[in-house]
Amino acid sequence: MTLNAVLCGCGAMSKGWLRAIKETPALAAEIEVKGLVDVNPAAAEKLAEEFGLSGAVIGTDLADVIAKSKADIVFDVVIPTARFDVVSTALKARCHVLSEKPMATSLAEGAALIDLAAETGKVHAIIQNRRFISGVRRMRRFVESGAIGDITGIHCDFFLAPHFGGFREEMQNVLLLDMAIHTFDAARFVADKKPLAVYCVERNPKGSWYQHGASANATFEFADDVVFTYRGSWCAEGERTSWESQWRLVGSKGMLTWDGEEGFKAATAGEQPGLLHGFTPVEVPAPEHDEETHGHASVIASFVEAIETGKRPETASSDNIRSLAMVFCAIESAKTGKRIEISA
Ligand SMILES: NC(=O)c1ccc[n+]([C@@H]2O[C@H](COP(=O)([O-])OP(=O)(O)OC[C@H]3O[C@@H](n4cnc5c(N)ncnc54)[C@H](O)[C@@H]3O)[C@@H](O)[C@H]2O)c1
Repeated sequence: MTLNAVLCGCGAMSKGWLRAIKETPALAAEIEVKGLVDVNPAAAEKLAEEFGLSGAVIGTDLADVIAKSKADIVFDVVIPTARFDVVSTALKARCHVLSEKPMATSLAEGAALIDLAAETGKVHAIIQNRRFISGVRRMRRFVESGAIGDITGIHCDFFLAPHFGGFREEMQNVLLLDMAIHTFDAARFVADKKPLAVYCVERNPKGSWYQHGASANATFEFADDVVFTYRGSWCAEGERTSWESQWRLVGSKGMLTWDGEEGFKAATAGEQPGLLHGFTPVEVPAPEHDEETHGHASVIASFVEAIETGKRPETASSDNIRSLAMVFCAIESAKTGKRIEISA
């Protein structure tokens, strides 16, 4: 089956999508990008030129380009504030939609889009690409194996200082909404537990070049007494952590640390007598399914599979809203100074 696609939002991230399709033979064979939409037509034209899409319909009106290119699917790579209109237009035009994160700028908008997807019977999934990487899959597999007993805590540190320019430096709650959602989603996936409540302190620290919320410190309560803590800053100059965060998983029998890159260390209790029993190293096996470790390409493949087989994609909006709820409840906690229950 060939799927006709319209890509809406031809900025920085759209190149990552088009590269993922081009470099993945199965996707390149199934997806034809027939239309490009951007409020700035020059951006669409430049993208068409860069990726050799000379035959693509180019325009500023999504509904019009969908009709002209007979689109089956819409790739939504616009800025978050434009997302609701873009996804609504695409679903109403009977297209399946794969959206960049975050899936909406509020929980009410997210819920409305889930309802619209259900009404139209179309697949609506979200690019939560950072759960589709080798390290995150490896942690999940390790937790599932029971090698460190039952998971009781997940602790993540994220300290970087990117100078993006553009919409991020203007937006509210920038770290929580634009970045922390990846780590929150990955923690929810690794623990395989429902998030229940959160307490969060958010700041825009001295020296920040963002307008709002460049740092956040959040403590989440997950089901079954699992605690997830996140400490992050996007204006922390100096020696940085990985973009995936630096992780420590605590289990009832041992711990795993991951530096967010290649470094995994796991151990259970040792057998030394005395105050501290030392430790016994444990191997952390590689992930089982290589095809689930290719970021954007893996999410796009899971979206295409859902269209073709009816199988629910892992990042279906109806599930992804739980990660969005982690973000919005953290924001509400930061605003009110209160512990907030997560109901999604
Ligand atoms: N998954 C990831 O790892 C990752 C990484 C970076 C960005 N993103 C997400 O990708 C999205 C886009 O980010 P970006 O960095 O490409 O931003 P960008 O500003 O570089 O590009 C956004 C593009 O959307 C266009 N646009 C805005 N409103 C539009 C509308 N109503 N209709 C059509 N086009 C419109 C803009 O003109 C611009 O060309 C954001 O949601 C961001 O959070 C995800």
